[in-house]
Amino acid sequence: MPVSVEPTTVEQGHDQSAGANAHTDAGARPPVEQAAATALRPHAENAFAAELTALAAQDDRPRPARWKLSPWAVATYLLGGTLPDGTVITPKYVGPRRIVEVAVTTLATDRALLLLGVPGTAKTWVSEHLAAAVSGDSTLLVQGTAGTPEEAIRYGWNYARLLAHGPSRDALVPSPVMRAMAEGMTARVEELTRIPADVQDTLITILSEKTLPIPELGEEVQAVRGFNLIATANDRDRGVNDLSSALRRRFNTVVLPLPESADAEVDIVSRRVDQIGRSLDLPAVPDGIAEIRRVVTVFRELRDGVTADGRTKLKSPSGTLSTAEAISVVTNGLALAAHFGDGVLRPGDVAAGILGAVVRDPAADRVIWQEYLEAVVRERDGWKDFYRACREVSA
Ligand SMILES: Nc1ncnc2c1ncn2[C@@H]1O[C@H](COP(=O)(O)OP(=O)(O)OP(=O)(O)O)[C@@H](O)[C@H]1O
Ligand SMILES: [Mg+2]
Repeated sequence: MPVSVEPTTVEQGHDQSAGANAHTDAGARPPVEQAAATALRPHAENAFAAELTALAAQDDRPRPARWKLSPWAVATYLLGGTLPDGTVITPKYVGPRRIVEVAVTTLATDRALLLLGVPGTAKTWVSEHLAAAVSGDSTLLVQGTAGTPEEAIRYGWNYARLLAHGPSRDALVPSPVMRAMAEGMTARVEELTRIPADVQDTLITILSEKTLPIPELGEEVQAVRGFNLIATANDRDRGVNDLSSALRRRFNTVVLPLPESADAEVDIVSRRVDQIGRSLDLPAVPDGIAEIRRVVTVFRELRDGVTADGRTKLKSPSGTLSTAEAISVVTNGLALAAHFGDGVLRPGDVAAGILGAVVRDPAADRVIWQEYLEAVVRERDGWKDFYRACREVSA
């Protein structure tokens, strides 16, 4: 017998308007909105509530069952654009449009979506924004680890109630996946390949039969229309717990690439740093763009093993030097500039961060870094200050 699952907690994510007026009349706001407004990192559906509301209001295209927006509007939310009434939708994902279109379309079919890529290619970020735009709630999340048990994907029990009254609906604690099935929402599984293989396979019945049996109660939870699942997995972790081919067949795989050009990467880093900086109340640093470009150049050259002009071959260090790491190097630099400098991002503010990202293995990576410093950084026009700052922190 199909049963419905009651949400066990109040989810701030269900409230589309939360956070929309984040900076006004704090006293009048109900507690959930207040929490969203003061959260260190609000969920996507709260942080971008105004954009989502504007999109929903002007979206006259057909929406799949229980979707908050049409696939077209979801893609616009991710890629950015300007609506007919002039509302500007900021780009969340910077990359090939087709990738986003395929990802969104997959969610409207009966196949689940697997976002694959090297670290820091925005898999988690895209998954969160997709869930926020499609279901208005990005919080139905299972974090995959080597210790993730089956209960985290299926359901668990409230043992006090179980012992007092025996197995019953009241004693059952639904997983985020079960709730998504019952409510026709988007569930998310992070780092799928870190989950032990037998636990991963719990997803097979869910994804192919769209049902989750509860043998203890002789019941099942059948997924209602609108349910789908987004999983993320790291390329580098492949081989840790490979997906079984049975499970892989239930997914459409979308590979998120590294940014194709330095300009694209500078764009991503400056956008994200600006957003993060605002949430941390760091002063805006419009003059920081030259330093951001430098960080991105260093990261790309060392990652690619060749200088940007293609002339000098380099050794690549062991770290991933991902876009995500470039973002945190610049954010840290901004904080240094704000608190201990004159508010302008300077070479000295990013040098230590870069060194930390590049030199992961103290022996081999340090040699690679020194070679890069002497052969490339030292000789480059306009990089003298940066060279000096790097020498200072490397000493
Ligand atoms: N192409 C991109 N467009 C927009 N943001 C990006 C892009 N690439 C990276 N980022 C930014 O990088 C940061 C890290 O991304 P995220 O955590 O989603 O990476 P990930 O692929 O999940 O990495 P990991 O494999 O380590 O989990 C986010 O803040 C995201 O905004
Ligand atoms: Mg991730």
